[in-house]
Amino acid sequence: MRLDVRAGLTSTPKTLPPKYFYDERGSALFEEITRLEEYYPTRREREILTARAPEIAAITGADTLLELGAGSGEKTRLLLDALHATLNTYVPVDVSGDFLAEAAGQIAADHPGVTVRAVVADYERHLHLLPSTGRRLIAFLGGTIGNMPPSTRIGFLGALRATMNDDDALLLGADLVKDEDRLVRAYDDARGVTAEFNRNVLHVINRDLDADFDPSAFEHVARWNAAEEWIEMRLRSTRDRDVHVKGLDLEVHFAEGEEMRTEISSKFRPERLEAELGAAGLKLAELWTDQAGDFSLSLARPA
Ligand code: AVJ
Repeated sequence: MRLDVRAGLTSTPKTLPPKYFYDERGSALFEEITRLEEYYPTRREREILTARAPEIAAITGADTLLELGAGSGEKTRLLLDALHATLNTYVPVDVSGDFLAEAAGQIAADHPGVTVRAVVADYERHLHLLPSTGRRLIAFLGGTIGNMPPSTRIGFLGALRATMNDDDALLLGADLVKDEDRLVRAYDDARGVTAEFNRNVLHVINRDLDADFDPSAFEHVARWNAAEEWIEMRLRSTRDRDVHVKGLDLEVHFAEGEEMRTEISSKFRPERLEAELGAAGLKLAELWTDQAGDFSLSLARPA
């Protein structure tokens, strides 16, 4: 975190990585986002999983479910139930230990036949340390792959592929390119929940790195970048001021109106997903969407 925040705050323009949104408050705010009328991805992905979980189980026959970024549990449950005939191990992986312990405990209690081995790790750095035995289904859901810029994404998929055995499969959730209006509304909701989620990264840095950001002096910005086909969230400083990050012994200046990027959320076209998976040595077996064609769930195997 120290390296990431220093690098982001000293670059031009300033950036912060989205993974630091998710402390306890940030995770709760994200849960609230998933229930907003404007935020369709969670509902759409659940619709696809509900329809396709039996097929996923039949195709993969997985005995181990490894989930990158432990979700709220509901989507996981759909997979665990569908895989009941073959599954013996569930491995949720998340950077946030508190959140993980709670989710894992609940799942263990509800699935007595399944061994739960929760791993606190940053899957962008620690892929090679994750359990690699068994016939694994690796689930990376929610569209979180979209938080990585294309170059990082290709590297990540390649690294993930390198850990996979021939019988393993990847289940990848990815949001699709659509009407700009709907995309912007999904990231700039009327009640301001996403704005509060965005500003939460400043609370996290204040606490963990002893900084003096005034979150109320930053406005939420959500913008569609048509050239890159991603949504960008930014925080715009409403004042000219210096921020002191004591824990990094760093002083940074914000000009009035200066914008700092806090997240990109890439939206995909199916051809692009297939091409990027292919470049990583993965062959697309299935690409499902919901009825409205808003979101995608791909199943891929080592080529
Ligand atoms: C959890 C990364 C999939 O990009 O849609 C929601 C996070 N950011 N609203 C997304 C998020 C703003 C979300 N992911």
